[in-house]
Amino acid sequence: MGPSTRAVHAGLPPAEQGAPLLGGPVFAAPYHLQGAKDAAPFGYARDGNPTWSALEAALGELEDAESVLFSSGMAALCAVLEPALNAGDVLVAVGDGYPGVRGVATERLAPRGVEVRFVPTATEAIVAACDGATLVWIETPSNPALDVCDIAAVAAAAHAAGARLAVDNSLATPLGQRPLELGADAVCYSATKTLSGHSDLVLGTVSVRDPEWLAALRRHRSQGGAIAGPFEAWLLHRSLPTLALRLGRQSENALALARFLRERSEVSGVRHPGLADHPGHAVAERQMRFAGPLVGFALGGADRAQRFLAALELVAEATSFGGVHSSAERRGRWGTDAVADGFIRFSAGCEDADDLVADVAQALSKS
Ligand SMILES: Cc1ncc(COP(=O)(O)O)c(C=O)c1O
Repeated sequence: MGPSTRAVHAGLPPAEQGAPLLGGPVFAAPYHLQGAKDAAPFGYARDGNPTWSALEAALGELEDAESVLFSSGMAALCAVLEPALNAGDVLVAVGDGYPGVRGVATERLAPRGVEVRFVPTATEAIVAACDGATLVWIETPSNPALDVCDIAAVAAAAHAAGARLAVDNSLATPLGQRPLELGADAVCYSATKTLSGHSDLVLGTVSVRDPEWLAALRRHRSQGGAIAGPFEAWLLHRSLPTLALRLGRQSENALALARFLRERSEVSGVRHPGLADHPGHAVAERQMRFAGPLVGFALGGADRAQRFLAALELVAEATSFGGVHSSAERRGRWGTDAVADGFIRFSAGCEDADDLVADVAQALSKS
């Protein structure tokens, strides 16, 4: 079955007379558990919940893997990074991706004696740093600069060095890119972004195929307590059937916008992996099914970029990405990314492309 069909049907219970197609969220802390501790599939909600199980089955189906749900993307990536790395181990991580990873690496892992090697999102640079690594962490396309690296080549180099490869796939989702198929060992998501796509929840998930790693992730969740609420889990499951539609439209809109922006003389450095002259375009075409919602570009200095953002009418000035409503922000306001003051990260939503382009055009004329 095709990926859209899988996304529509993933994790649904068997058709039973009178039963709902997708059951509602289950709100419970303890469950009836008479006798032995494993006499029932659920005993206490920090260890398991039927709403999580349905969602995890769905996410697992999309990746031919086992998925573990967490309370946020940060909880998911910490569940991969922290148990995997001890004193003397080596983490090779992209230094130009989501800044939360750099924070965990420098403030939580390095003080514990983990050697951290930051590298740019460039295949050769990552491969060259793999010698002696324990875990390699990449994010492609990188966020916010949208550089691309070759997942299969990095996986081969990591494995040759005896390391495991983890990929943050929040931007592309399992429908846009399948890192496990390309050799990665773990895939992490901020489900807050494209996966849920409605800007109304914070969740994270990790997918692996190794049963021991799966058990370790579940143990980490029970012990750390970073668990998802059933309602958020249900909302995410309810959002999956529209993922292909959303991601397809967002990717088309992002490309239309990138093509428009590159013709404007006041705009520079337009980035989108779907543009034929993007340096990573060939790799992106090979490993991505959708190029994703993000477009990066620079618009003079901070003041001009802020005037542009303020003049947008359809597009919210907001952080995060992957929502059905377009949003944009001047990334330099956080002080965490190596980007120009006027660099804008634009997340294309599901509006009509002509309306989006028209809104951007009128805002450019006022900036
Ligand atoms: C690529 C990426 N990974 C992980 C995270 C962290 O996710 P969350 O905010 O759901 O904890 C984010 C959040 O912005 C992100 O953009």
